[in-house]
Amino acid sequence: MIEAVALTKQFSEFIAVDSLSFHVNPGEIYGLLGPNGSGKSTTMKMLLGLLKPTAGSARINGFDVQQHTVEAKRSMGYVPEEPVLPERLTGWEYINYVSDIWRVPRGVERDKEIDDLLTLLDIKDASDDLIETYSKGMSRKISLVAALIHNPKILILDEVQAGIDPRGAATIKEILVGLRDRGNTILMSTHILEIAERMCGRIGIINHGKMIAEGTMDELRTKAKGQQSLEDIFLDLTGGPDMQKIAEFLGE
Ligand SMILES: Nc1ncnc2c1ncn2[C@@H]1O[C@H](COP(=O)(O)OP(=O)(O)OP(=O)(O)O)[C@@H](O)[C@H]1O
Ligand SMILES: [Mg+2]
Repeated sequence: MIEAVALTKQFSEFIAVDSLSFHVNPGEIYGLLGPNGSGKSTTMKMLLGLLKPTAGSARINGFDVQQHTVEAKRSMGYVPEEPVLPERLTGWEYINYVSDIWRVPRGVERDKEIDDLLTLLDIKDASDDLIETYSKGMSRKISLVAALIHNPKILILDEVQAGIDPRGAATIKEILVGLRDRGNTILMSTHILEIAERMCGRIGIINHGKMIAEGTMDELRTKAKGQQSLEDIFLDLTGGPDMQKIAEFLGE
């Protein structure tokens, strides 16, 4: 279970996350949505214990992340928005390095698990190449393999589908849905509203660090005056494009 309780992050004068509260249950995929700069990644970093909250608390399986960092971190897998990867290792070396850190026992079973994930995500052929040669999508895929390899009960995925090809995105969806059905707790952010609509049981829309709407798709539809698609709901709640300014720019 993931819990954010009045989570707040202030960078000097600027409040990036403003008393944000929400929770993600085991067996649930929760989608955190919001415009660029609305505080999604900052929220995730506080839940992961990578960033200290200015106020409020983050709890993972009941453990306060600030007070019981190790216990909390042990059960989490994270794919960052911009994965920082060791360029001079091959994909295979990197995943084995991460597996060792998590103390996943070495052996045939572990090799098979890694092999299966690399194959599923279509990066097996590149696993002996240096990571510096990987494309953006390949880097994100190897970062997902690294996040999954210790079989964490809690997954925090920051735009994991960004730049992923359709087959890869469909594969990731099936993996995550399967993990959800096995009782894992999944928090993901995405700008691909179709993915959120299809995968997430509940969705939280944040703007300027505050929760402006939360619920199932049906609940959000009711909130947004019966708007049907998540895109319409999102634009209704966060503001659509300024057509007048666009027309001025286009010289009309
Ligand atoms: N280390 C930092 N120092 C100062 N301001 C920061 C820092 N990190 C984030 N911010 C600011 O906090 C706000 C929220 O950033 P965050 O990265 O959480 O947004 P986001 O919702 O993940 O956006 P995106 O959709 O573009 O990924 C932004 O205005 C950003 O400039
Ligand atoms: Mg972000």
